[in-house]
Amino acid sequence: YRMSAQQMLKVYVTRRIPQEGMKLLQKAGICNLSVWDSDEPVPRAELLKGVAGAHGLLCLLSDKIDAEVLDAAGPNLKVISTLSVGFDHLAIDEIKKRGIRVGYTPDVLTDATAELTVALLLTTCRRLPEGVEEVKNGGWSTWKPLWLCSYGLSGSTVGVIGLGRIGLAIARRLKPFGVKRLLYTGRQPKPQAQEVDGEYVPLDTLVRESDFVVVSCSLTPDTQGLCDKTFFSKMKKTSVFINTSRGAVVNQEDLFGALSSGQIAAAGLDVTTPEPLPTDHPLLSLKNCVVLPHIGSATYSTRGVMSELTANNLLAGLTGSEMPSELKL
Ligand code: NDP
Ligand code: DGY
Repeated sequence: YRMSAQQMLKVYVTRRIPQEGMKLLQKAGICNLSVWDSDEPVPRAELLKGVAGAHGLLCLLSDKIDAEVLDAAGPNLKVISTLSVGFDHLAIDEIKKRGIRVGYTPDVLTDATAELTVALLLTTCRRLPEGVEEVKNGGWSTWKPLWLCSYGLSGSTVGVIGLGRIGLAIARRLKPFGVKRLLYTGRQPKPQAQEVDGEYVPLDTLVRESDFVVVSCSLTPDTQGLCDKTFFSKMKKTSVFINTSRGAVVNQEDLFGALSSGQIAAAGLDVTTPEPLPTDHPLLSLKNCVVLPHIGSATYSTRGVMSELTANNLLAGLTGSEMPSELKL
């Protein structure tokens, strides 16, 4: 059974995505695909034009899907499927109001993102970029007892802000490094925390007592700007701050102040505001700040599986069937 041209459902895809997902959409035989076939984001005006009349929208975290986009799409729109687990780029209230279903990609990127977080933490706390730079620029004169010394994980206290899927996976990976105490905060204690001997504590306690503060919560009105001047002022001078959630959880001016004044030891960020971070941004002038270009989930296999899940969510939304990963609105 093949659909006639009129029965085909219009699907707008805002970027070139991994072929695994693209193949599923093509093979399904129900989509009239319209793809912004580029590695760069679709310009807003193009998005507003391209989405008109679409039944399905496959988007990325860099696309802001708000009332304007939903209005531009019009009443056909049944499903939005995002190639991400984060959904802070989607105007959920507006989407819910219109009865549109949302698909996202939890779980499949948890391991890759936790692994990258551990890599960023070790890179930052052990001052690897500085060391690599010194080898290249001739700063390495001899083995020196106090040169490039830093703070390690063994015997330390780690604090995880948001012990969700990724937060727990980070904690599991850090424990074997000899972490002594694992603190966490969130909206409520988590039974899963037992597995990592996690102690549920107030944010204030976590910030004051942790040698490593790791942010892995979602971006919400409650967490926006959570890591600000007051927050950093409570951290120990020897502590390291890591963020792999969303840039907006951090007040970057306050972080710059804390790093440049020696209020905290170092910071590692996989996410910033804006993205990309301008190359002349003050944070990039600091030796004790390591910034990565939002590559938490960037392994070939993870991105492949993310694209498949995103495609299958979209197809299920179009046919009115159960999605593999539907966001409960
Ligand atoms: P989860 O929903 O499993 O975890 C989010 C956690 O944040 C939950 O445990 C939640 O706690 C917690 N949280 C929510 N509000 C607060 C708050 N006010 N204070 C403290 N904690 C809070 O999502 P994932 O673990 O799958 O993903 C987490 C985030 O990581 C994503 O939303 C995304 O922004 C980011 N991410 C970044 C990637 C990267 O490339 N750097 C890759 C993938 C994800 P509770 O359960 O109590 O509500
Ligand atoms: C997400 O999925 O939210 C990440 O930021 C990218 O994988």
